[in-house]
Amino acid sequence: MLDKLFFKRKNPENNTLLEGNIPSHVAIIMDGNGRWARKRALPRIAGHHEGMKTVRKIVKEANKIGINVLTLYAFSTENWKRPRDEVDFLMKLPGEFLNTFLPDLIKENVQVRIMGKKELLPMHTIKAVDEAIKKTENNTGLILNFALNYGSRDEITGAVKTIASEIKKGNLDPSQIDESLIESYLMTQGLSDPDLLIRTSGEVRLSNFMLWQLAYSEFWFTEVFWPDFSEEHLREAVSQFAQRGRRYGGV
Ligand code: IPE
Ligand code: IPE
Ligand code: MG
Repeated sequence: MLDKLFFKRKNPENNTLLEGNIPSHVAIIMDGNGRWARKRALPRIAGHHEGMKTVRKIVKEANKIGINVLTLYAFSTENWKRPRDEVDFLMKLPGEFLNTFLPDLIKENVQVRIMGKKELLPMHTIKAVDEAIKKTENNTGLILNFALNYGSRDEITGAVKTIASEIKKGNLDPSQIDESLIESYLMTQGLSDPDLLIRTSGEVRLSNFMLWQLAYSEFWFTEVFWPDFSEEHLREAVSQFAQRGRRYGGV
């Protein structure tokens, strides 16, 4: 499992920009769909629909670059606060995305995963994502990990609860709790931490995204709204990442 995740796929041809360090795991907070639409006097949902096309483009490019894991923040545990119509639309997007693109993703050897409280999603959304997970589970290429009804505090709370109940049942002793044990109870279990976090739309915050996993990630922010985020922007982020010096507290 780990071998598969850490295996660096061959470098993309004719790509001078990307020489050096390619991030193995890239996480993206895809923000700004609503403002993209407002700028064009369109309803917010038009921005979400356009953003879905960006997802397709960026997955393709990430695969080409040789990124191993792409985690995309699609819906947070706080996004239920939005108007009912907008939430309903957002819940239909995974189905539409997968109906349209799943055959291509399968061809491209992409493995689809989900992290988040899946059981609280509408049945039609669960069905769509389950089908994609099942049909791609043996794929060995890019891991496309959608954060859907995901919240980091919810994730950590869940991990603490499970660990506590394992202790109560006598399956675990408190002395066994260390960082790797905690990680094994998080929703990213089995994945390396993101090397690079990207957030679009000019907001400079995490909005409850991967608080544990981003401890030593490199951050890259852009003013560009998600529907306008292009292959070039991803390459720019990745090439800046390659120039950073990561020290992890050392010298
Ligand atoms: C990101 O775009 C998509 C989701 C959070 C689901 P937004 O809908 O947050 O767009 P803005 O931030 O309002 O522009
Ligand atoms: C974060 O964006 C969630 C997703 C991109 C899915 P939000 O638009 O919900 O974040 P805030 O409310 O601006 O912090
Ligand atoms: Mg937003």
